[in-house]
Amino acid sequence: MGRVAELAGVSVRTLHHYDDIGLVRPSARTSAGYRAYSAGDVERLREVLAYRRLGFGLREITELVDDPATDAVAHLRRLRGLLLDQRDSAGAMVRAIDRELEARAVGIRTAPEEQLKVFGAQLYDAIGSAYPATRRTEPRIAAKVWEALGDARTVLNVGAGTGSYEPPDREVTAVEPSAVMRAQRPAGAARCVAAAAESLPFEDGAFDAAMAFSTVHHWQDPIAGLREMRRVARRVVVFTYDASTTGWLERFWLTRDYLPEFAGLLVDWPSPADMTRAIGGSAEPVLIPWDCADGFFEAHWRRPEAYLDEEVRRAVSVWTRVGPEAEQRAVDRLRDDLSSGRWAERNRDLVALDTAELGLRLLVA
Ligand SMILES: C[S@@+](CC[C@H](N)C(=O)[O-])C[C@H]1O[C@@H](n2cnc3c(N)ncnc32)[C@H](O)[C@@H]1O
Repeated sequence: MGRVAELAGVSVRTLHHYDDIGLVRPSARTSAGYRAYSAGDVERLREVLAYRRLGFGLREITELVDDPATDAVAHLRRLRGLLLDQRDSAGAMVRAIDRELEARAVGIRTAPEEQLKVFGAQLYDAIGSAYPATRRTEPRIAAKVWEALGDARTVLNVGAGTGSYEPPDREVTAVEPSAVMRAQRPAGAARCVAAAAESLPFEDGAFDAAMAFSTVHHWQDPIAGLREMRRVARRVVVFTYDASTTGWLERFWLTRDYLPEFAGLLVDWPSPADMTRAIGGSAEPVLIPWDCADGFFEAHWRRPEAYLDEEVRRAVSVWTRVGPEAEQRAVDRLRDDLSSGRWAERNRDLVALDTAELGLRLLVA
């Protein structure tokens, strides 16, 4: 224990405390019969200390390290992303403080909004590590996006995440504000810039095309972001959701019968008309295949059992955004209706369909 404490730079008391609360227990024995840390215990201790350094509380850490869905590699990825994010936010804070010092030196007071901006937390830094488990390229939808890119040679992918829809045969530059998402981009993926859609760090007309897939609803100012895409590219392709059509809540059984709270997430959602106006183009429906490979919210419309799976839900921000109570209620009701046959009864017509119109749209300009 003493040797481990020395190596890890913590006190023996701390290790005793972790042992007492069951967080990290030395599970091996020395030849003399003393308790000792196995390689697995050391790995766990390393995770605990890293989460501690990032500011997590011991209760949260226990949940994180005990999560059966997260293996050592997933922990390392998540930690790497969180650390990069901490480095980025520290850098942003230093820059903001420098700006404020300069302003104060000449008698200018920074606006209150400016002072708070650097603390704005990002959703994907909290939930992004669960993303790659079920989110991947759906080839039939990717083909539509890539076709809409036309003959563009240089492509900017805004809100790129792990890069699922980046065309393999063009010169791609990605933009992604979340360090956790950037850290999960596969080796060999396109160059990725840490920035947000609303303020793209590129010259006017720098790209042949700009694309955004399943991200506009996360932007603080979607219209400003779309205008930015228009500014930096000749062609703009956006895959998004249409909540403006009347009866949209009825369109999908999941929101209609189990998760009406979804409506609350769409309060400030711009209509496709507003979005197409911002880029100067038109919108066409994208039908979702029944066996859609990318696990976005609507993907499992004909495979309802999938929504009972925690892994499926954690990779979709809607479930985090509606809050744990609504999520639990929706899942419990769905589970009951699936076992009683009520879901099958109500959604009898779906079995015959291979694709569904659930409000997804491709905007092209
Ligand atoms: C649902 S994911 C989609 C990722 C990727 N486009 C895909 O289809 O796999 C949404 C992404 O938008 C990013 N995002 C959030 N706010 C953003 C902003 N203001 N500008 C650009 N991207 C943003 C998130 O960090 C996240 O990676």
